[in-house]
Amino acid sequence: MKYGHFDNAKREYVIDRVDLPVSWTNYIGVEDMCAVMNHTAGGYVFYKSPQYHRITRFRPNGVPMDGPGHYVYISDAEDGDYWSVSWQPVGKPLDEARYTCRHGLSYSVYECDYKGISASQRLLVPLGDAVELWDVRVKNNSDRTRSLDVFSYCEFSFHHIDMDNQNFQMSLYASGSSYAEGVIEYDLFYEEFGYQYFTANFEPDGYDCVRDRFIGNYHTEANPAAVEKRSCSSSTEKGGNHCAALQKKLTLAPGEEARLIFLLGEGRRADGQRMREKYADPAAVDAAADALAAYWNAKLTKLQIATPNENMNTMLNTWNLYQAEINVMFSRFASFIEVGGRTGLGYRDTAQDAMCVPHSNPKKCRERIEQLLHGLVSKGYGLHLFDPAWFEPETEEKPFASPTVVPVPDAASRIHGLKDTCSDDALWLIPSIMEYVRETGDEAFLNRVIGYADGGEGTVYEHMKRILDFSAEQIGAHGVCKGLRADWNDCLNLGGGESALVSFLHVWALEHFLEAARCMDAADDIEKYEAMYGRVKHVCETELWDGDWFIRGFTKSGRKIGTHTDQEGKIHLESNAWAVLSGAATYEQGIKALDSVDRYLYTPYGIMLNGPSYTVPDEEVGFVTRVYPGVKENGSIFSHPNPWVWAAECRLGRGDRAMKFYDALCPARQNDMIEIRESEPYSYCQFIMGRDHTAFGRARHPFMTGSGGWAYFSATRYILGIRPQLDELLIDPCIPAEWDGFTATREWRGAVYHIEVRNPDHVMKGVRSLQLDGALADYIPPCAAGTEHTVVVVMG
Ligand code: NOJ
Repeated sequence: MKYGHFDNAKREYVIDRVDLPVSWTNYIGVEDMCAVMNHTAGGYVFYKSPQYHRITRFRPNGVPMDGPGHYVYISDAEDGDYWSVSWQPVGKPLDEARYTCRHGLSYSVYECDYKGISASQRLLVPLGDAVELWDVRVKNNSDRTRSLDVFSYCEFSFHHIDMDNQNFQMSLYASGSSYAEGVIEYDLFYEEFGYQYFTANFEPDGYDCVRDRFIGNYHTEANPAAVEKRSCSSSTEKGGNHCAALQKKLTLAPGEEARLIFLLGEGRRADGQRMREKYADPAAVDAAADALAAYWNAKLTKLQIATPNENMNTMLNTWNLYQAEINVMFSRFASFIEVGGRTGLGYRDTAQDAMCVPHSNPKKCRERIEQLLHGLVSKGYGLHLFDPAWFEPETEEKPFASPTVVPVPDAASRIHGLKDTCSDDALWLIPSIMEYVRETGDEAFLNRVIGYADGGEGTVYEHMKRILDFSAEQIGAHGVCKGLRADWNDCLNLGGGESALVSFLHVWALEHFLEAARCMDAADDIEKYEAMYGRVKHVCETELWDGDWFIRGFTKSGRKIGTHTDQEGKIHLESNAWAVLSGAATYEQGIKALDSVDRYLYTPYGIMLNGPSYTVPDEEVGFVTRVYPGVKENGSIFSHPNPWVWAAECRLGRGDRAMKFYDALCPARQNDMIEIRESEPYSYCQFIMGRDHTAFGRARHPFMTGSGGWAYFSATRYILGIRPQLDELLIDPCIPAEWDGFTATREWRGAVYHIEVRNPDHVMKGVRSLQLDGALADYIPPCAAGTEHTVVVVMG
């Protein structure tokens, strides 16, 4: 069953049926202000921090589904009927009213058609301005003049997620609203920078700032009293719950259309006046929308592809990069799942996210890498969750000390010890640094000096060495890296036990680092880290092979995890993917290991994390054994590690298999099975219920997941094989044998390469010849910025 379709020309997903089983979300805003909105305009907007500066209120995980939101109501004077431009909150029967939602890149449009009136509400946040624009059109398609009242509505929040849910004895009496000259000003009296405004490009005919006056007692957002009686009550108050309701009376002749712009912004009334003038003319709103489209276009055109796989084209050309970028922008902490309870950066997530976008967002990629380098303790491990602001000079002048100050731990308690260290966190940073350098050619970055979290400083290159040394020291009885609090898998809590995944990651990180060492001509380091590479690889070969696959590790008491004699958790995805991807496995081991993954873990919706799921708690293995079977880390199709297997299959040269696994997880391919998938088909979800769960195939937690970045990374760099190196653009595809080839346009270091890959012999891997601008070439060097080139790759 499907609910919508991809409009690739407009880069939009169109929801044709809005009665979805769950919210399908979008991210409106790419800078400091961002709204997370669903298909019925439910959601919230925040400024800089979803935890500490939530502007509009959201009642997460509630009934009715995902509200309130940023709503527009229309009321008809003819018969007193009213409806909302987005299907909810009024929820008119869908056989009487036609509703659609179009999610585009950083904007959403809600459309309705009811009783001869068509209306739309477009939400966007312009580049450079902290204001959400509600661009509303109302058109009379009937043959008689219509008198309509249009109302905006959103509910203000007490900013701090905690204050919004507790301690009402304080917050309820510290928030106030006022109205003057067409602008509502909301103010959280006890807080620095506590002001927001709501205004419009017209003179309102009415307003309400007090929520309960607009909604009315014993009413809800579905039937606000003010809309029912078509009249606001000019309410404002010091104290209480507040909203932004502006009313406009319209008289529309047949065929006539009105366009109204509402503005919800950060700042005081004067800021509102300024923005009101700036966006008074709808042409300014259109220009802001064009600028946003150009912003995304500049990113997306860095790589565009045309392959025989339409779903892959849709994902890679638009949605997959969009998701990956959003993860880097907001670092995982704003969604309907992450509703603002955390601030800052998760070390491993941020490191991996940054690795996937150096071509489309080199600035943010570098900024994230620098923040993580600053969050590295001089012993070589990363602070698992930290706020980069701890290490930045205070820039904002605070007018007074608020009673709700954001808690800042003192310097000593920021640095956690080994007990709280995750063994994989900092290892991810080394490949990210190298991907940034390969993309940009900015080798000088390796010499940049950056402070350690606990004091002292070192170059980026020195930071990398400390990370590798830490993993070399933190080994257990078998010489394999210790699992510590957890490795990539939050729920595998091995303590002094050992993690195969981390040793494989160590091999991978060493391979990346050695390229840096060679590039710096650091003879001593080359010798030292080549020896380390050899040692770790040897341990992997001798300790971790199980006969048909690689084990996942050892418990503290020395028991193997994920071995053939296990009844539960017999085989795990992560260690097998990384054994191959890191290059630690031999070719024969790799083939056997990934065949076992296919045999035991593959499903039509992707690859499960482990199988069979655990049902018996085992404290030595960790919390994973207490998670319900088939859910999250216990035997679900955890999306993030799936692309590791695609890349691993490509390392083995099996393009058919890589594509089989790619297709299984591909959200766009599941567009027609929403009765099973439920979640949006334009974003990878954190996990899909596994075989051992009754809801097998149901996807959960969209957008904020490492699979966004990794799916893009593995598909573009390994399946399509377009991989920048320090001094060449490598093209080494691993594709299904049936493909005749594909084309791609890739911008690298300012030059544009029009790439045609031909596959006349229908192989899966191997390049027979390469041409650059019509001449045979051994490799593609970085060409001058601003130039364009043709590249022909013949496989065979
Ligand atoms: C989600 C966490 O954000 C991520 O860091 C972790 O790797 C996965 N869960 C798997 O446990």
